[in-house]
Order: sequence, then structure tokens, then C-alpha cells
Amino acid sequence: MSTGTDSEQQAAIDDLKRASAEVAAAQLRDGMIVGLGSGSTARFAVEAIAKRVQAGLRIIGIPTSEQTASLAVERGIALSTLGEYSDIEVTIDGADEVELDTLHLIKGGGGNQLREKIVAAASRRLVIIVDERKLVKKLGSRAPVPVEVAQFGWQATARHLTGRGAAPVLRVGADGKPYITDGGNYILDCGFGSIDDPAALQRELDATVGVMEHGLFIGMTSQVLIGTGEGVKQLEGGAAR
Ligand code: A5P
Repeated sequence: MSTGTDSEQQAAIDDLKRASAEVAAAQLRDGMIVGLGSGSTARFAVEAIAKRVQAGLRIIGIPTSEQTASLAVERGIALSTLGEYSDIEVTIDGADEVELDTLHLIKGGGGNQLREKIVAAASRRLVIIVDERKLVKKLGSRAPVPVEVAQFGWQATARHLTGRGAAPVLRVGADGKPYITDGGNYILDCGFGSIDDPAALQRELDATVGVMEHGLFIGMTSQVLIGTGEGVKQLEGGAAR
């Protein structure tokens, strides 16, 4: 993928994302409650599910972001809430990094990790769709861990995180103002470098006052579908819950 113009490379990456999304969407069956992920790869999944819905598939989607909800409604996918359906059969979502040996994830590059994790935790299966660039030997190799924090006193939370070895950077939007999540919080993108013990880091982040949620998804992945130049490859994990 190193040759070609930028737009050709982007088109090739989009093809890999679309291919993994289509394999995931093909797993759905009539009557399922389906978590709809967020981000550019999950968007391809929503499009693929919508095609199946147009062909007669009956599912109910639980969106993980306002953006996904709008797209799903536009494409004719019936939506509901966790209040109505707290037992989700399968959620299809993207990831920023997938650790090869464990299938632990970093998510939240798009800023949706709080809702994504709530939906994943309510799901029997979490199917992750990625292109091959997202696979890493150790989490943190390429992506920072997005940590969603309360706006109130975020500077104090950032100091706690610095004490835990992070290099927190407040995420800003295109307008130069702090990025605000669907839940009304800020995001601190925390570079930890390569993470030796993601479960221990998860415990530390969970215990940090002011942290609403973070992008480490440990032991949640059921399956990873990887778009590669040689077709869609599959890695199996455990049950999401
Ligand atoms: C959204 O907050 C994220 O968790 C995305 O699922 C993740 O960032 C992957 O996004 P892309 O599919 O756009 O790379």
C-alpha cells in the first residue's frame, strides 16, 4: 500500500475496511439486537447492514454515537435504546489498535469510547472490524489511549494521569476549542508508549477520579475481522460478557 497517490491509497484502505464490514454484516440474522459502532470502518458496517435491511433483514440497532444514529436512520435501520433492549446479541465496531496475542483494544480515536464501551459491555459478542494497519504486538505502539474526563477540574485529572505515566493532551476540534463528547465530557489523549500490562493500566485509569471512561477494551473482543490484501482474515477471542 506504499505506492500510488494519497487518494489511491485511501481508496485501497477503504476497500479493506468495507470488506471486513461486509463479512461482519453477513453474520446478522432476523430478529437480532445489534450494537452499531462508530468511526469510519463502523460506517461501512452500517452501510452494509442497511443493504441487508433493504433486502428484507429485520434487526434493531443500538447506536454508539449520535453520528451513527443519524446515518442509520438515514439508511432505514430501525433503532432503539439500551433502556428497551439491554441484552445485545452482537456489536460490530472498529478499533484504533488490536493487540495480536490478546485481542485487547484501544478505541476512541473518534471520541465515542464511553458509549461504545457501555454498548460492548451489554453485548454477548463484540465483533471488531479493522484493516491490517491496526494490528500491533503491544497496545500503545501507535495510538494514544483516549481518556474521557469530566470538564470540571480536567486539569487536576490531567495531573493525576501524568502521575500514572501518561502524557495527556487535551483533544481540540477543528475550531480550536476543546472537543466535547456525546456525553458532554473532554478527552485527554494519553500517550503511554508501548503498554506492558494493559489490564493493570485499565485498573489504574478506572481508579482515577475525574475519568469517566477510557479507550482500553480489555478481554471484551469476541472476534476480529481484518481486511487484508489477501482477503478478510479472522481471529477468535472469547465472549464479550
Ligand atoms: C470511535 O470512537 C472509535 O472507537 C473507532 O471505532 C476507532 O477510532 C476506529 O475508527 P476508524 O474505523 O475510523 O479507524
